[in-house]
Amino acid sequence: MSLAWKAARSSGLHGLLRVPGDKSISHRAIIFGALAEGQTHVSGFLEGEDTRATTRIFSQLGVHIETPGAESRVIHGVGLHGLQGSAQSLDCGNAGTSMRLLTGLLCAQAFDSVLVGDASLSQRPMARVINKLDVMGARISARDGNFAPLHVHGGQRLQPVEIDTSVASAQVKSALLLAAMYAEGESVITEPRPTRDYTEAMLQALGWPISYSPGRIRIRGGGRLQGGEIRIPGDISSAAFLITAALLVPGSDITLENIGINPRRTGILKALRLMGGRIEIFNESEQGGEPVADLRVLHSALKAIDLPESLVPDMIDECPIFFVAAALSEGTSHASGLAELRIKESDRIASMVAGLRAMGASVTETADTVTITGGRLHGADIQSRHDHRIAMSFAVAAQCASGQTLIHDCENVATSFPGFVDLARSAGMILE
Ligand code: S3P
Repeated sequence: MSLAWKAARSSGLHGLLRVPGDKSISHRAIIFGALAEGQTHVSGFLEGEDTRATTRIFSQLGVHIETPGAESRVIHGVGLHGLQGSAQSLDCGNAGTSMRLLTGLLCAQAFDSVLVGDASLSQRPMARVINKLDVMGARISARDGNFAPLHVHGGQRLQPVEIDTSVASAQVKSALLLAAMYAEGESVITEPRPTRDYTEAMLQALGWPISYSPGRIRIRGGGRLQGGEIRIPGDISSAAFLITAALLVPGSDITLENIGINPRRTGILKALRLMGGRIEIFNESEQGGEPVADLRVLHSALKAIDLPESLVPDMIDECPIFFVAAALSEGTSHASGLAELRIKESDRIASMVAGLRAMGASVTETADTVTITGGRLHGADIQSRHDHRIAMSFAVAAQCASGQTLIHDCENVATSFPGFVDLARSAGMILE
């Protein structure tokens, strides 16, 4: 079923807001809770379609996972070698994180598995993990060597490796880490630019022998994980839509509670502050090893920037909403090093350029750059291309546009941000 949103100009966002739990950490909580010995208690779990897909898959693999209440899970870990093969294919839905991480895990099991996904996920490149896992001795076959369905052949003996991921991708790195847990000996994994380190942090928290610094990880195979407690903070990627809306809509003043501010995720805060955004970070603390804070955001007159390329990996999912901020700022903004955006849930450069142009913005693109001159926007008919972050980005753009904006195919917003419309409306966004 196709879901469309109508959105229009807001007269201000206000209030104390909480966004759902971090998607990346929620996936990993299920994965490592399942592989641990004993119970793992998870709170702040993202009740999104993507993380539910991961949960369903582990149930299929024989892991008992209870839901004692909303946003909490109790995972009865089966240990490193306790997963059971499934005769049915394992459906990752729209979730790239599920498919890529599970490829790394399943290639090390004694049984065969088949991973499938929805239309969007079936077009996303998997060779980036398959080719690296190959080096370790994995056997994985894919459509055209690159796309789901993936047939993962178990029963292989994996070798430890010294390997570079070649792309700045936490999914590729995490797939390799999962496989390396089953290899005999020490693996060393490096990345061209440091990416989110939640896999490393969770392994360490649950007792696995691993040492890491940004961009370089040493991990030994054959350890044990001990179940524990995992408290998941609010997802900064979800918060980014409300933060940007509050900066852009005159009169706004919002506070977001309990947001994860891992430095590998805060590129968007740095970028928006460089533009003149008033974002105050306070009540900083640590929750289960992860830095969290509350954020106060006040309307600000934003100015264009040249986005430092080094920030891109730290805001890889926030580039679409950054483009919205640029389209409503004074001057011409430029961003480079964006090639990865073309292989997300949609081609996010193409999706954003088409939509912003339809709203009257002046935008140009190359293979991996975007240049945007800020100005006034007007309402338009927008194709979100079934991409959650594109739909939410245009819902924010519409809050500063004249007339009405119609955004098509918004159903996938439930993959990462269930309750977005209700929360956005409660804050003062005009959206239905
Ligand atoms: C994620 C890594 C990123 C990000 C995705 C979640 C993760 O993907 O875009 O939303 O949880 O590891 P890449 O690894 O493709 O950069």
